Formats: sequence, C-alpha cells, structure tokens
Amino acid sequence: MTATTPDTARKRADELHEILHEHAYRYYVLDEPTVPDAEYDRLFQELQAIEQQYPQLARPDSPTQRVVGQVLEGFAAVRHAVPMLSIRTETDTTAGGAEAFDARVRRELRLTEADPPVAYSAELKFDGLAINLRYEHGVLVQAATRGDGEVGEDVTSNIRGIRQIPLRLRGVDAPVLEVRGEAYMRRDDFEAYNERQRELIAAGAKNEKTVVNPRNAAAGAVRQLDSAQSRRRPLSFFAYGLGDVQGWTVPPTHSGLLDALSAMGLPVASQRVVSAGAAGLVAFHQKIADERDRLPYDIDGVVYKVDSRELQARLGFVSREPRWAVAHKYPAQEQMTTLLGIDVQVGRTGKLTPVAKLQPVFVGGTTVSNATLHNESEAQRKDVRIGDTVIVRRAGDVIPEVVGVVLDRRSPDVAARPLFDMMSWVRGKCPVCGSPIAKEETEADWRCTGGITCPAQFKQAVLHFASRRAVEIEGLGDKIVEQLVDAGIVRTLPDLYKLGFANLVALERMGDKSARNLVDAIDKSKSTTLPRFLYGLGIRHVGETTAKDLARHFGDIHKLMDASVEQLLEVPDVGPIVAQSVHEFFEQAKDLIEAAGGKVSGSVSKKTNWLVAGEEAGSKLEKAQSLGVAVIDEAGLQALLAAPAEGVDEAAEE
Ligand code: IVH
Repeated sequence: MTATTPDTARKRADELHEILHEHAYRYYVLDEPTVPDAEYDRLFQELQAIEQQYPQLARPDSPTQRVVGQVLEGFAAVRHAVPMLSIRTETDTTAGGAEAFDARVRRELRLTEADPPVAYSAELKFDGLAINLRYEHGVLVQAATRGDGEVGEDVTSNIRGIRQIPLRLRGVDAPVLEVRGEAYMRRDDFEAYNERQRELIAAGAKNEKTVVNPRNAAAGAVRQLDSAQSRRRPLSFFAYGLGDVQGWTVPPTHSGLLDALSAMGLPVASQRVVSAGAAGLVAFHQKIADERDRLPYDIDGVVYKVDSRELQARLGFVSREPRWAVAHKYPAQEQMTTLLGIDVQVGRTGKLTPVAKLQPVFVGGTTVSNATLHNESEAQRKDVRIGDTVIVRRAGDVIPEVVGVVLDRRSPDVAARPLFDMMSWVRGKCPVCGSPIAKEETEADWRCTGGITCPAQFKQAVLHFASRRAVEIEGLGDKIVEQLVDAGIVRTLPDLYKLGFANLVALERMGDKSARNLVDAIDKSKSTTLPRFLYGLGIRHVGETTAKDLARHFGDIHKLMDASVEQLLEVPDVGPIVAQSVHEFFEQAKDLIEAAGGKVSGSVSKKTNWLVAGEEAGSKLEKAQSLGVAVIDEAGLQALLAAPAEGVDEAAEE
C-alpha cells in the first residue's frame, strides 16, 4: 500500500504515526491493545517501507525510530546498567529467513566462501515480557521491566511471586549478575484464570475482566500495583541472556551461557540447538513450527544468535538492535476478521455456547471460520454485534476464540444492531431438539433441558465416552457418531457394543478396512481402566483427576456405586457437590442394573464379558484380576451406560 507520490506518502506516514503511537501506548502502557500484534506489525512495516522510499519522512519521533514503552506511574523507575535491547525481526517467515540472516552475518564479518560456517545458537522466542533480574552475591535484589530500554519499572515484589525464579542462585557469589529473560503465562494457567474470571463475571462480579491472551495476562500481572492481585495470575519464567555483570566470568558462547544459567537454578527452555551455518536453523524453525501447538506456552517465533561472544562483539549493534541476533517469526495467533453471525451450539452437558461465524481468516497456522464466544455474559461483555471487526485468537489445540471487538472499525449501522442474548436468539428453545432452555441463577450457562434425549447432547456424550482419555475407541469420530445417531442405530452407549462390521461399512465414507479397525477398536475398549471408564461416563463434575481419585479410593466399581455421600466425602479433594453428583448418578444406575437383570460382581469368571479394572490395568489386567478389582458384567454395564449422563458439566469438570 506504499503511496506513489511524496504528497500522499507524507499524508499516509502522518496517519501511520498517529495510529502506531496510539496502539503502542495501549499496548505498552495500558496493557490493553485494541488490535492484534499482526495488525500493528503490518502498519509498522508499511511505515518502514514508506520511510525507506522517502528517507526525508523518517522523523526522529517516528514509531520506527524509537524503542516504545513507558514507565507506568506507581512503580519506582530503574535505570538499566546495560540497556535492554530488542531484536530485529526477519519478516520472511519461510526458511529463507535463516539463510538471509546467515548471509548478513557473514558479509558483516567479511567472511568468504572459503571460511567455515558460523555457529549459531537457536532458541524460542517467548511471548511474554522481558525482565531484568539483578542478583548481588547470588541474592535476588531487584527485578525490573524493560520500559523504554533505558529505564524500566521496579517490579521486584511481583516478580518474587514467580516460584520458578530463584531468590538465590546456586554456586554464584559474584558482586553483580543480572539475568535477563521472559516472564510469561502458560496457556493452561491462562485458560484457568479466564475460566475463573468468566464465572465471577457471570455471577455478577463488578470490575472483573478476562484477559485477551497470555502475554497480556503476564504483562498485567507483572505491572499490577497490588502484589496480592498479581499473585492470582501464576507466571513462569525463562532466562535467555545477561545484563550487567561484575565479578563473574561469562562463558565464551551463548549456548554455554544458557547451560551456566540453568546450572544456577534458573529455568532455561530445553528446546535449543547449536548449528553450524544456516541449515540447522532452517531445520529448527521447521521442527518448532511443528511442535508449536503442543508447547504449553505461546511463542511467536524462534531466535537465532551468533553463538560466539567474540563474534557478537565484532558484529556490534545498529541503533537498538544487535547485529548478531534475529527473530524469525511464525504466523500470528491473533488476527482481525468480520463477524458474520452467531450460532448457538449444544454441548455434551446441554450447555449452550454462542459460536461466532467468521469471515474465514488464517490464524495460528490454519484457516478459522468458527470461534467460541464462551457464554452469554462473555458475548455481552465483549459487546459483539454482527458485522463487527473482531479479533480471533487460535493458539495450541485450544478452540479458537473471539477475544474482542475493534471498536474503531464499527460503523453506525453495526452499532445499532442488538447485543447477543440467548433467550431471544434461540426463542427459548434448544436449537437442536426444541426442549426449553434454562439457566440457574448462579451459573454462567444456559442449558438445553432435553438431557440425552437431545441428539446434540447424546452425540457429545458418545464422543466423550469414546475419547482418547476415556475408554478410547480410535476411529469413532464426530462424522461417524453423527450418522449412527441420526440413523437411530446408536440410541444408548451400550448400542456401541452391538455394532458390527455390516452396520459400519454401510456408513458414508467408510471403507472395509476402517470398518474392521473400528470393530476392533470397540472390542479393545472393553478392557479399559476404572478411572478412564468413570471419566467416560460423563458424571457431572467428575473430570479425569476426580475419576482417578475415586478409582484409587474405592478400587472397585461396586464399592463406588454403593458409597454414601459421607463415604464419598472421605475421598481427598472430593467436596459436597462432587459427592452428591456421583451418588445421584449411581443411585439411578443401580436401579437400572437391577431392572436389566444385571449384577455387579466382584470376581472374574468365564462368563464375565466386561472387565473394568483399576488404574494400571490394560496390560496389567492379570494383576488387576488377582487383586480382585471391580468387574461388572455386561448387563450391569449396559444398564450403567444407558443411565442418562444428564447434565455433565464440561466447564466444571475439575
Ligand atoms: S534476546 C539482544 N532471546 O523479544 C537481544 N529475547 O524484541 C535481547 N524475547 O524484549 C533479547 N524470547 O522480550 C531474546 N529467546 C529470546 C527471547 C527474547 C523472547 C523477547 C524479549 C525482548 C524481545 C526483543
């Protein structure tokens, strides 16, 4: 979009100055960005391109010319003994990025083709915020944010709350050793924090907010003036460099430094390599791209650093960026797109979830056209209207979510559209089965009251039962369950065990081989473990951990089925809500078993069709048997499975 004439270029550059300054302020100072990073980067690069073409437009106050950031009032200012730099970003997200960096380094070092390859250290680019930890005689005395690079904020008391950061270094007595690294929030901690916030908001708490992504959550926690509040948001830390050093011999390589930091008790990410030349960097970039979704935290790229400190010194700096390091990015995990509509989906527990229908957008490495809005109060708090420009986040294997609206882009006619509200959206009825919807006062979620008579709930219950962490029926995916349930072939969970090759091979897109594999998988699932089976039943409030606790405590399904609420309360970590829920589930179930003429047996006999064994079973089936672990017979099991797994609560599972 680079302008073609100096006049329009000047106008656009002025516009970009304004926009970028505003975004930078919201991002760095308020910790409340209103556009995704990718959008900021696009605008920034547009300005850079204009300034490159017309250098006279590169004013000293241009956002491209200075390190952004500002000291927030309320924290003491800390002047960094050694400035905190930033890293140049390689815009080419393909393999070429690593090669271009290597070529530049070699050129600047005046190396010829005859010279050996340069050794690089490659590591992750963590998406949090940079922190300087000052240790004196091995003791943590101060922690500061980067601020504008020269002056940061003293956030010592908040940083002390990060358990991974040692208050004393192992084996270090140097007068001064400053360690630099990234404070970040793990994705699971972020999800748990937001889940809790959503509950508080739905329960009517004022002044509570969710956070849009782990990076903002981390920045908010570190820069929270009240350290008690800060500790509600658990943070983690990775070390990646040094600041001021007095009286300590720095290892000759960056990789050696990371080893030394790790030996001192500081967390250093294990994903790192040393590579001779660019080839290893390209491979690292690719490998991490494949692993990115599975990492427990967000990264926005990888960083390559010249490994030798001597060569680093020879390369030096350009403005605020070292010539010896480069960040090589991955596709952004947040993007803007248009909200086309809001559908309501029915989950396994009957929970109604507003789902945003989006103009398809490439985010976090895939094209996303649906994203969750979590629940009614979240959709209302985010103030989404059909036609809005929204920010979508997709990170890891978490389902994509709408994290906010770009209000600047809202037109008056969009503003006039109604806020989402569940009752009127679905006219009071489950969009799948037509049963009335209901919401308890203390709960965030509306639910379909149809129970497993609602095909949507039943399908989800089947998928949950068959899922990897439950009894694991490999190959029983949503398309197959959809067909089996819609055709009335599977009406209860035990119906799964009546499926034969003929039923399966008749399904759409099902070949002989897949059908045979599925028959085998169903058969294999019969010898599962007790915790998995319990979890698979989808008892409300019984997630994996609780299922394990129950299995460990009772050891045997019939003891569990007979347990009174009081006995259930004896299980560590089981409270009244869980105890009640488990008790109710089995009371039901027992009647059904008797009605079905079944019995729960404590021993294995030749007639036993079903074995639901203790935790370590499966291959250790024999051991489980010799220990007399619960065995229930087929009729019993079928009755148990037929019991409506009513009202299982996904959100409240643990
Ligand atoms: S080194 C000399 N290594 O990226 C360069 N930075 O744009 C100093 N970051 O403010 C930074 N992961 O917050 C370095 N492995 C890593 C990093 C990393 C994330 C952040 C850091 C810094 C920003 C630089």
